[in-house]
Amino acid sequence: MEITIRIRRQAESGSPDYKSYGLDVDPGTTVLDALMRIKGEIDGTLAFRKNCRNAICGSCAMRINGRSALACANRIRDVADARGEILIQPMGNMPVIKDLVVDMTSFWKHLDQVDPYVSTAARRPPEKEFLQTPEQRAAVEQAGNCILCGACYSECNSREVNPNFVGPHALAKAQRVMADNRDDRTAQRHALYNQPEFAWGCTRCFYCNEVCPMGVQPLDQIQKIRHELLTDKAAQPNTAMRHRRVMVRQIKESGWLDEASFALQVVGRDFKGLWNLVPLGVRMAAKGKMPLRHRPIENCAQVRDLIEEIQKEDAQS
Ligand code: SF4
Ligand code: SF4
Ligand code: FES
Repeated sequence: MEITIRIRRQAESGSPDYKSYGLDVDPGTTVLDALMRIKGEIDGTLAFRKNCRNAICGSCAMRINGRSALACANRIRDVADARGEILIQPMGNMPVIKDLVVDMTSFWKHLDQVDPYVSTAARRPPEKEFLQTPEQRAAVEQAGNCILCGACYSECNSREVNPNFVGPHALAKAQRVMADNRDDRTAQRHALYNQPEFAWGCTRCFYCNEVCPMGVQPLDQIQKIRHELLTDKAAQPNTAMRHRRVMVRQIKESGWLDEASFALQVVGRDFKGLWNLVPLGVRMAAKGKMPLRHRPIENCAQVRDLIEEIQKEDAQS
């Protein structure tokens, strides 16, 4: 099969440029093997990371046709378009060192910020070693499958707009240690993760779930952390928590949001926050989006029943 691989080439201080390489490959060849052939047979200056070639080490993440993925886990026949073309670019949200090699310093720093280890005190062995039941092990299985490839971090919209947001990989790890029955730092973790740069910084764009090659479903892990925080009576309420609570309460009460009181209830007694809302309130009033009287929708009771049913299921899971 004749293919053309278009690769974004860039040195640390230079501006990017695209180069195309033609190859004759077996359709079952992986993208990584094709890149290795380019490097070995056509252009030895091409830089990319790789190691295991088997979707284990997480080294070879890059953008394939615009989405971050493992080069060693994608076959040419699945990613080449009808003309046999494939676009390869470095991961996003991290500066390029050379070609497809990015500087992952912020990725590791953010991982470190969630304290990603089962706490030392809890790891002191009782007699011989800590035993876990199959159920206890299953609780950490999914998040524990992360190979720290960076694909989710590369596509994260929240990380793009807020460089302080720790990112989906870090929060998946946070959930992994929180769910571990050997960890005894739950209270400290709740206080740490209950911040805008941690559990509440995600805008739920779903990209991390979409690109994760290991089925970690980082967004699902973030939702689990949020759920724990919302049910922790000792957790300090913040704007994000109030937003969630007020929304659920209003929908249960009337079936839809009361725009006039929603923002006020969410912002609470934060007078600076209230003052900042004034221009928005004026614009909404001018467009008739703040009716003076908020009426419940028809069949509001059905909406309430639905929410309560979901809340019951959540509480049991
Ligand atoms: S769902 Fe949240 S954490 Fe995942 S990529 Fe989107 S903003 Fe980032
Ligand atoms: S959560 Fe998935 S995409 Fe993100 S670093 Fe881990 S393995 Fe990679
Ligand atoms: S080379 Fe190890 S995951 Fe691709």
